[in-house]
Amino acid sequence: RIAGPGGLVLFGVTGDLARKKLLPAIFDLANRGLLPPGFGLTGYGRRDWDHDHFRGVAREAVEAHCRTPFDEHVWEQLAKGFRFVQGTFDDEEGFANLARTVAELDAERGTGGNHAFYLSIPPDKFPVVCQQLSESGLSTPKPGTWRRVVIEKPFGSDLESARALNDVVEEVFPADAVFRIDHYLGKETVQNLLAMRFANQLFEPIWNANYVDHVQITMAEDIGIGSRAGYYDGIGAARDVIQNHLLQLLALTAMEEPVSFEADSLRTEKEKVLSAVRLPKDLRQHTARGQYAAGWQGGEQVRAYLDEDGVPADSGTETYAAIRLDVDTRRWAGVPFYLRAGKRLGRRVTEIAVVFKRAPHLPFDLNETQELGHNALVIRVQPDEGVTIRFGSKVPGTAMEVRDVTMDFGYGHSFTESSPEAYERLLLDVLLGDPPLFPHQREVELSWEILDPIIDAWSTYGQPDQYRAGTWGPPSADAMLARDGRTWRRP
Ligand code: BG6
Repeated sequence: RIAGPGGLVLFGVTGDLARKKLLPAIFDLANRGLLPPGFGLTGYGRRDWDHDHFRGVAREAVEAHCRTPFDEHVWEQLAKGFRFVQGTFDDEEGFANLARTVAELDAERGTGGNHAFYLSIPPDKFPVVCQQLSESGLSTPKPGTWRRVVIEKPFGSDLESARALNDVVEEVFPADAVFRIDHYLGKETVQNLLAMRFANQLFEPIWNANYVDHVQITMAEDIGIGSRAGYYDGIGAARDVIQNHLLQLLALTAMEEPVSFEADSLRTEKEKVLSAVRLPKDLRQHTARGQYAAGWQGGEQVRAYLDEDGVPADSGTETYAAIRLDVDTRRWAGVPFYLRAGKRLGRRVTEIAVVFKRAPHLPFDLNETQELGHNALVIRVQPDEGVTIRFGSKVPGTAMEVRDVTMDFGYGHSFTESSPEAYERLLLDVLLGDPPLFPHQREVELSWEILDPIIDAWSTYGQPDQYRAGTWGPPSADAMLARDGRTWRRP
């Protein structure tokens, strides 16, 4: 799959995402030979930069963060298509210059009139940028060409704002030209979840309430909020990652087999799951919120959330959130899905653990002190990508003693191919106009319908519980599972 003629216009070139992910991903795509030779990239921003300065900044970002070995020749070819246009978001002249630059790229590089506009900017800037793209004519493709817009989460901060935001974008771009990025969907292991479930006979027969006790979806990060207080404070863990990444993982784990892997089929099945989600009646008992206090991590002392730069001393933002959800379908009746996400936890790990019921009967006596765990199938999304199956095995010796062991599949051992970074795959799909990995607006809205009542309830509960940095969240999260007679996994 190689992209045809086209280019990308990047708003927010000086941001973290552009530097760490987008620019390196563009280079990696070029380096893998997946971009058209005449690809064009135009940065738009306030800085007083010329094309060469932009190329220099981009090169630094690429050299620092690219995944494939830096190649001078590939870079030279790619950078010839880089342009920078100076302007503010409400600057008509800036957008007129942008339109001229894009037309020049079409003539000089052969981008063929096809351009995607990547809005890597705060959502409150979407209205003005979309309006300018419309007024300058940039959003309207000539016959036989395409114009697309790429937007990054947060898609609003609740259902109402998500709808308002979408209205703004879809007033200018038709729905099928809007690509919403949830970078988790671009991750290799997340796509493998579908391959595992639907390319095999082994798992699907037991992937239901007859055999599954519960599911735990964990997104643990060891990092704090760094310099992102401006974005994160007031948003918190639930809006930042549960509304999007974790609910998408839940949907992919719980959905029925799609008719095909086309966007509409996938979307239909994911939407069914999200529509079938039921919240616990007693949210106080079945959710938990935490905020990191000072602690030790990786041998270093780290500060409390409230002491991070830019965070108000009385902030009530949660940096940890855990939620129990039920999926009211025949397949999942009575199987709770526990979702948790947090910063400054024990270590960085994202995983989906499908925990099975115990064997209904044991034909031998286990030693009284021995407790056999549950069988589990764990999809390790990152960082150590792979799958683990946990089951009981006889301990060598004369006694009939059974102990849990694990069987592992690791990408590193089984494949020599390297995984593209999530943004590489997603940018390529934008250029190809291939929508399956981009959430539809309806999925976004259904996710907010799940989350809004929880966040509303939390706003009446006072401050989140504190947990020491480097631990696994607040005691209230353990208590939440203990009430159901279960415990969190320690990945
Ligand atoms: C982003 C969140 O969507 O995902 C960040 O805004 C989080 O807060 C990041 O750190 C984690 O992404 P990844 O790919 O490192 O798991």
